[in-house]
Amino acid sequence: MEQKNLPNLSKARKRLNNRVITSEYKPHKEIKGLGIGKKYLIQTHGCQANEADSEILRAMLEEQGFTLTDTVETADLILINTCAVRESAENKVFGELGRLKSYKKVNPDLILVVAGCMSQEEATVERILTKYRHVDIVLGTHNLHEFINYLYYVMTENKKLVEVYSEEGNIVENLPHARDNRFKAWVNIMYGCDEFCTYCIVPYTRGKERSRQKEYIIEEVEGLIAKGYKEITLLGQNVNSYGLDLEGDKYHFADLLEDLSNLDIPRIRFTTSHPKDFSDELIDVIARKQNVMPYIHLPVQSGSNAILKRMNRKYTKEDYLSLINKIYNRIPDVSLTTDIIVGFPGETESDFQETLDLVKKSRFEGAYTFVYSARKGTPAANYEVTLSKGEAKQRLYELNNLVNEGYAAGNKRFEGQIVKVLVEGMSKTKTDTLSGYTEHNKLVNFKGNESLIGKIIDIKILKAKTWSLDGEVI
Ligand code: SAH
Ligand code: SF4
Ligand code: F3S
Repeated sequence: MEQKNLPNLSKARKRLNNRVITSEYKPHKEIKGLGIGKKYLIQTHGCQANEADSEILRAMLEEQGFTLTDTVETADLILINTCAVRESAENKVFGELGRLKSYKKVNPDLILVVAGCMSQEEATVERILTKYRHVDIVLGTHNLHEFINYLYYVMTENKKLVEVYSEEGNIVENLPHARDNRFKAWVNIMYGCDEFCTYCIVPYTRGKERSRQKEYIIEEVEGLIAKGYKEITLLGQNVNSYGLDLEGDKYHFADLLEDLSNLDIPRIRFTTSHPKDFSDELIDVIARKQNVMPYIHLPVQSGSNAILKRMNRKYTKEDYLSLINKIYNRIPDVSLTTDIIVGFPGETESDFQETLDLVKKSRFEGAYTFVYSARKGTPAANYEVTLSKGEAKQRLYELNNLVNEGYAAGNKRFEGQIVKVLVEGMSKTKTDTLSGYTEHNKLVNFKGNESLIGKIIDIKILKAKTWSLDGEVI
């Protein structure tokens, strides 16, 4: 296998002071039609950053004439966009790669591509090079825009290729997108993360924080509006630090949100916010602007100050509670959700009780909860794990029971109310039922026909369930 650039986690940890250069993607003139008559399949793991990347990779393949398929048997190219955030995510990918080995025997021309965050890890690439040699291309997160060059090389030279950069470079604009949804779109506003929470691999796999220039973001959103999009979700690992790395340091996330909310887009969401720099200006924009949705995902991770400190989260339980109280005061009906990790190294029973206490006080209407997973190369991987797997699972179970009460209460409060729903499509199970999301990001099912798809309509909520709402068109 040709190994051009291999990942290196200690290089990836460095934060260089070089200026980020913005360049523009140009579709290939020399490379044309690589995929004519061929089919591709993409499997996406992990967070919205990966979903957004997959849409870019799909568009590049489609520019070459590839068409989408959803069966492995009919695919000429399979791309797995991987996530490295927990061991379970990685195991899924290795399982999949194992299974695909036999397809490769049936169809030796099948091209297998591994992209995403796992590609940025030495251990993963080593394992692919030794045990999963049927992989044709390993592509990192910093060089998506080069994908077609690599594909051309592999297809014409009949070789395999690893191309991963550990030092993130520049921002490439004007990337094509084959969007999965006709009404809702992801819009990256920044890449990377500089927080270095001690458990987290993302700052290594995604590199240093780089904000897109606002002109490009606004242009992208204007393009989406022209195409009839109704909702955008602004993406970044920590959107609150948008702009801090840009020249001048005067234009921050609240300013961007304000400018975007003045465009003719009915719904704006954003994810994820770090509690540390959630500014008053930001709360104010969310409160004032009708098209900035009253829904905030605000990961807390733990309710114990000792654990928060060891996680390097840079706030205390009290800071977090006072921030959300400020948010509740200014935006009384806001819906808050969070992320929580249990079983972080050294988490005692009383630390865990602090987390439960914080959840009780926070009125979360949902939470993604995880058992801590040690990530090689991160500081916490060297901390002593004090809890057995069984004990950690027990804590997760207890936490989930509490979190589920929040889900149910968050739905219950809408019973009898009239809410606005962006209709997404027919329900997967019932043919006469439509579904969509409210401004507070609640899933609603109701009877109706296809003509409503893509519209924002008023729905009366009849009944709240734990995970969804039942309503009727009024
Ligand atoms: N940038 C986002 C989250 C990215 S990862 C943020 O900071 O909010 C999504 C979630 O995965 C995190 O919020 C955290 O709860 C969880 N997570 C990250 N690393 C983990 C690990 N090593 N073990 C378990 N959960 C982890
Ligand atoms: Fe990971 Fe923390 Fe960055 Fe989120 S803020 S991506 S948890 S390092
Ligand atoms: Fe996973 Fe990478 Fe996202 S590690 S959570 S896909 S940034």
